Amino acid sequence: MGIIGAGPAGLLLSRLLHLQGIDSVVLENRSRDYVEARIRAGILEQHTVDTLTAAGLGDRLQREGLEHRGIYLQYPGTRHKLDFPELCGRTVWVYGQTEVTKDLIAAQLDGGPPLLFEVSDVRPEDVDGDSPRIRFTDADGVEQVLECDVIAGTDGFHGPSRAVVQGAAGRVWERTYPYAWLGILADAAPATDELIYAWHPEGFALYSMRSPSVSRLYLQVDPAEKIEDWSDDRIWENLATRFALEGWELTTGTITEKSVLPMRSFVSTPMRRGRLFLAGDAAHIVPPTGAKGLNLAVADVTLLAQALVRLLHEKQTDLVDTYSDRALARVWRCTHFSWFMTSMLHRSGDDFDAELQLSQLRRIAASEPAARELAENYTGLPLDL
Ligand code: APR
Ligand code: PHB
Repeated sequence: MGIIGAGPAGLLLSRLLHLQGIDSVVLENRSRDYVEARIRAGILEQHTVDTLTAAGLGDRLQREGLEHRGIYLQYPGTRHKLDFPELCGRTVWVYGQTEVTKDLIAAQLDGGPPLLFEVSDVRPEDVDGDSPRIRFTDADGVEQVLECDVIAGTDGFHGPSRAVVQGAAGRVWERTYPYAWLGILADAAPATDELIYAWHPEGFALYSMRSPSVSRLYLQVDPAEKIEDWSDDRIWENLATRFALEGWELTTGTITEKSVLPMRSFVSTPMRRGRLFLAGDAAHIVPPTGAKGLNLAVADVTLLAQALVRLLHEKQTDLVDTYSDRALARVWRCTHFSWFMTSMLHRSGDDFDAELQLSQLRRIAASEPAARELAENYTGLPLDL
């Protein structure tokens, strides 16, 4: 098994296959430090926690992860709690996805399958036959060829695998949103027990966290905004305005990281060509409002691992033949939900839109079925829709 990309998708796939006795080699073009330093989101669905724990990767997650039992939806004058266990019997976990990647890399390097960093010129070849290969140059500059039974393209949005799968038969759907997120990490104790998704006339704001002493907060900004134009004071002032609620106060602190993150929806179909299979961001990107990015990648590789075990151990092709359709069913569901949350909460500048958004928010606050639909999607639907 050749796996291109050592992000959460590639590393977890390698681990799941390893536990089933299937060898793999993971090829990563960046350094370990770079991969581990990438800023990522922080919400894990229960199936993600269960999958990581079953794969022997749950120790630090269980120690440091924070189980969360709901979210707040806020709009002027109201901060409404959605109680997930009451609505759908599930919860989510707050645990930095950066930490998930670190845990996966540590496990891989501690007796797991080979993980090669800083490779270059990675090229999947002959994927339409039964003996595909990956040509690449290793970190020492030596040309290498990896002969495979199967290749996984888990190389993210900018990797080479999607273009090979796309070929002539593929199709791409894309929507770029007219706003971005300015995200900060701050040494400030979260002033809320659950995440707050706040609609405000001046723009959306999200209150998340990483630990009892570290807050993770986001502000809707124009995509053209430059982070250097946002002083710490300006950031805190905007956050205080957008989260303002009678009798509540924002906790501020030292900002340790800040960046502007673009927002888009992207789906590439199919997710397979012959013996090359896509999983994770290589096939789809969702706006972070629905907290789906990593969870969707985990769902892909869970389905893919099952399919590859059946192919390589039992010589049955039924699961690999249906992998793309089954994975895309969940991709489109999560793409819709992420679009729904993004469209409901972000100001477009159009007052008609604002009235529709406020009507939707009031409906969710007043209607248990409407709240349940959000809760079921947010906490994660069954893997195989
Ligand atoms: N050769 C080898 N590796 C490559 C190449 C290449 N040509 N191009 C990209 N890569 C590597 C990237 O450096 C990255 O480490 O592939 C990896 C892809 O990882 P991610 O971009 O993290 O994508 P994925 O593993 O699908 O993660 C999905 O996890 O944390 C969330 O928000 C994150 O949505 C993302 C999700
Ligand atoms: C985060 O904690 O980074 C986070 C949480 C929820 C989201 C997006 C990001 O919807």
